[in-house]
Amino acid sequence: MPIIAVSNQKGGVGKTTTTVNLAAALAMLGKRVLLVDMDPQGNATTGLGIHKDELSIALTQVLLEQVTAQQACVRSPSAPVDVLPSNGDLVSADVALMSQAHREMRLKNALASISANYDWILIDCPPSLNLLTLNALTSADGVLVPVQCEYYALEGLAALLGTIDNVRQTVNPKLAIAGLLRTMYDKRNKLAQDVSNELLTHFGPQVLASVVPRNVRLAEAPSFGQSIFEFDAASTGAAAYLALAQELSRRRF
Ligand SMILES: Nc1ncnc2c1ncn2[C@@H]1O[C@H](COP(=O)(O)OP(=O)(O)OP(=O)(O)O)[C@@H](O)[C@H]1O
Ligand SMILES: [Mg+2]
Repeated sequence: MPIIAVSNQKGGVGKTTTTVNLAAALAMLGKRVLLVDMDPQGNATTGLGIHKDELSIALTQVLLEQVTAQQACVRSPSAPVDVLPSNGDLVSADVALMSQAHREMRLKNALASISANYDWILIDCPPSLNLLTLNALTSADGVLVPVQCEYYALEGLAALLGTIDNVRQTVNPKLAIAGLLRTMYDKRNKLAQDVSNELLTHFGPQVLASVVPRNVRLAEAPSFGQSIFEFDAASTGAAAYLALAQELSRRRF
C-alpha cells in the first residue's frame, strides 16, 4: 500500500493534474485509491467534482485532530476514487499547527487508521515547502516529482531533493524518490528536449519512462470536475497517465 506524495515547490508544473489522473488511472486498473488534497487551493478536490466551498468537514479538521480521516473522506462523484478534500481553510491548519507538538506527524497519524482500506494513497502537495508539505513527506513512502521541461526546472529540484534528504535523516528514513515525471512535454520543442536530456544525465533511472505530453484535454477536464478518463479516454493525456500507473505499479517502494 504505497503512499506517494506528488510534490515540487515550483508552481504550475502539473502536480494536481498528475495526482488526479494518476488516481483515476490506478482506479481503472482495479486499485482502491485515496487522494489526499494537501493544497489550500483545493484544485484536486474540485478536479474530482467535489464542491470545495460546501464541505462541512475537510482535511483541516483531520489535521487539527477534531475528526477522523474516515469522517472527512468523500467519494468523488466522477471517478471511483476516495478523497480527503480541502479548501482555503487549510491555510488556518498550517498556521495553527506551527505551535503544536508533533506537528509534522498529523497526516501520518490520521492515515494510519484508514490506510489498510487502500492499495494506493496519493497526496497532492502545495507549491511550497511548508508544514503541509512536510506532513505529506513524513507520511509518504515515495515522492513523485512532476517536472516541466523548461529553463528553471533543475534549479528548483535541488531544493526539493535537499528537503527530501532532510526528512529522510529526521522523521522518515524510508522516504524514496518514486520518480521524476516529465509533464507538459512538447517533443518538437528544442528546449524541452535539452532539459529532458539534462534530467536523464543528472538523475538517470530516477526519471520515469512515461512522459506526459502537452494535451489541451488535460487542461479542460478539471472545469468539468472530471478526470481525463471520464472526460476524454481516447486522448493522448489519458494514455500517458494509464502508462504512468502501469509503470509505477511495477516499481517497488
Ligand atoms: N499535460 C498537460 N497538458 C496541458 N496542460 C496541462 C498539462 N498538465 C497540466 N496542465 C495545465 O497546466 C496548469 C498547471 O497544472 P497543475 O494545476 O496540475 O499544476 P500544479 O503543479 O498542481 O500547480 P500549483 O503549483 O498551482 O498547485 C493547469 O492549468 C493545468 O490544466
Ligand atoms: Mg496544484
